[in-house]
Parts: sequence; C-alpha cells; structure tokens
Amino acid sequence: MRTRRAALASIATAASLGLTLSACGQSSEGGSETDSSGSTKGATIGIAMPTKSSERWISDGKNVVADLEAKGYKTKLVYGEDKPDQQVSQIENLIAQDVKALIVAAIDNKSLDNVLQQAKDANIPVISYDRLILNSPNVDYYASFDNSKVGELQANYIVDKLGLKDGKGPFNIELFAGSNDDNNTKYFFNGAMSVLKPYIDDKKLVVQSGQTDLTKVTTLRWDGATAQRRMDDILTASYKTEKVDAVLSPYDGISIGILSALQSDGYGSKSKPLPVLTGQDAELASVKSIIAGEQTQTVYKDLRELAKVASNMVDAVLNDKKVETNDTKTYDNGSKVVPAYLLEPVSVDKTNYEKVLVDGGYYTADQLK
Ligand code: GAL
Repeated sequence: MRTRRAALASIATAASLGLTLSACGQSSEGGSETDSSGSTKGATIGIAMPTKSSERWISDGKNVVADLEAKGYKTKLVYGEDKPDQQVSQIENLIAQDVKALIVAAIDNKSLDNVLQQAKDANIPVISYDRLILNSPNVDYYASFDNSKVGELQANYIVDKLGLKDGKGPFNIELFAGSNDDNNTKYFFNGAMSVLKPYIDDKKLVVQSGQTDLTKVTTLRWDGATAQRRMDDILTASYKTEKVDAVLSPYDGISIGILSALQSDGYGSKSKPLPVLTGQDAELASVKSIIAGEQTQTVYKDLRELAKVASNMVDAVLNDKKVETNDTKTYDNGSKVVPAYLLEPVSVDKTNYEKVLVDGGYYTADQLK
C-alpha cells in the first residue's frame, strides 16, 4: 500500500513531468499573416490552454499546433498556469501580436468577457475549446465532447458494477465534481446525477457525508490534492464504521487524489476492497492505475479528434467556408447559443483499455507498462 506521502510525491512528479513534456508543445513563432492573394495560409493562430499540470492539456496544445501547422498556419501556444488573470493577459498579448484567430480553453469561464470584446474589435474569431466560455457574445464556435454523456457513462458504470439494476444494495457512495468555474462541471455532474438520483432517492445508494449538492462537492481547479483532503475528511467524519463502495469522480487527476486518501485509510485489502472509482481523460497514470486494479474506470475522449475539430473550425471561419457543427441547441452561454461540434466519449476499464487505447493508437502497449 502506498503511503500518503508517496502518493503526494507521485502527484508532484506528474506535475513536473508535465512541465518537462510541455517543452515539446511550444509554439512556432509567428511570421507572415496573409499573403498577397488574401489567403489565410501562413497566418498565425493564438492558442490559450489552461495549465501544464495535467497531461491532457499538454497533448491538446501539441495536437492543435500540429493540425494547424499541417494546414499551413503558424501558431502561438500559451499556458495560463490555472490563473485566470494570467490567461486574460496572455490572450491580450496574442491579440496584440496580430493573431488571426483564437482557440481558448478557459480557466475561469466568466473572466474573459473584456478580452473577447478586444478580440471582436480586432475582428478575430474565437473558438471555445472543450470548455464553454460564458456570458460573452464573442464566442463564435464551441468544440467539445458530449459532456452530459461523460457523467452518464461514469454513473452507469457505477450502477452496473454494483449490480443496482439487479436489486443489490444498499451501497455507500461519495460524490465529487470538478471546478466550479468550469462550465463542464455541471454537465458532468448533472449527467451523472440523472442516473444516480433515483437510486439515492430509493436509498439504494447512500451518501453518508450528506454532501449531494453540486455546491458542496466541487473541486477548485480540478486539483487532486484538494480532492484528496476532502476524501480524507469524509472518511474521518462519516466512515468510522461504514465502508465506501463507490466514488463518483469526474476527472483522473481527482481520482488519483481520492485513491490516495482511500489507500491511506486502509482500502485496497481483501477485507477492505477499494470502491468503484470513476474518472475522465484516460490520463496515463490513471490507465496504469486501472490496469493495477486501483482506479476502476475512466472516460476516454480522443483529444486528437478534438484538436482536428477546432483547427477545422479555424480554417473554415478564416476562409469563409461552412463550419461543421452538430449541435446548435445545447450550449447557451448566457449571451447566445454557441454552435458546437460535440464528439463522443467512451467508457474505458480493465476489460477494454487495450482495444480502445492501444489498438486505437492513443497509447503504445509499452507506455502502459
Ligand atoms: C474539463 C475537461 C475534462 C478535464 C478537466 C480537468 O474541462 O472537460 O476533460 O480535463 O477539465 O482538466
């Protein structure tokens, strides 16, 4: 069993690994923007990503840069260290550097209104990447996944694993959600609760902590250590005699934190097995944890596809071509319904990770050793 210190150290290692890897995701420097024929090829596209502390955003940055460069664009890629103010000034800088379009994965979805107005004034189209930017009319398109379905996949996995449809139970469950300043958080949580709530109402699922409301279960900036502390507190306060059977976790970084708290409390033995523990993003550490029989499930979102969708949107907008969307109803940002292209998430566990992740070329078998 790993100690809490070892677990925290591995979170720190993952973070510094992120920093090392990030060097590969750096941008090419911008140069010419439009050629004499008026073509947008060679124009520079600004890409603002939220943080390097998670593997996924490093991949997102690399993938978007590669796709845009393959289309003949130059790119400037910046990471905001999970600090909303820093992201705002980075985007201001990109605008000042005359980028022709912006792809933004927001840190705080409500802090970008002013800077997006500056983009609009400079005639720069904005693609909201993975996370919808709220309260601004100046968001042109949204590229993401079916975020409600992510939550449904996590919850259905718990229902199946516990055998709730066969009438088994009652079981104890604890609920975790993402950052309260990320619009995805409520889609993931509400999607999951649409499946879990009937069982909670029937007392087939019991939340011993009593923390069921979204406002009580969010995790600022999706931080694993914050989730670990909350799980520690819950175990101390509500599980002196009870045992937790399932934990709804919205994201792999949070799952790893929860897992550490559980292991420190003695979970992971024959007499005290680990609960069913969900996740999202199929991050390497979590897929390895799933293979090792610790975390149980994750939701895989093919980031290569997301990058393609976003770079195709940029290319189409800049060339006055029709932008491909498949959802023009769901994502109201408070100012307008933002036309979206939503990709399909896939549930992954020990039984299908090879087929989905290795055969699908997302990871090599060697990476998962
Ligand atoms: C969300 C995203 C998730 C996860 C999380 C933490 O916005 O949709 O896939 O990456 O942020 O980074």
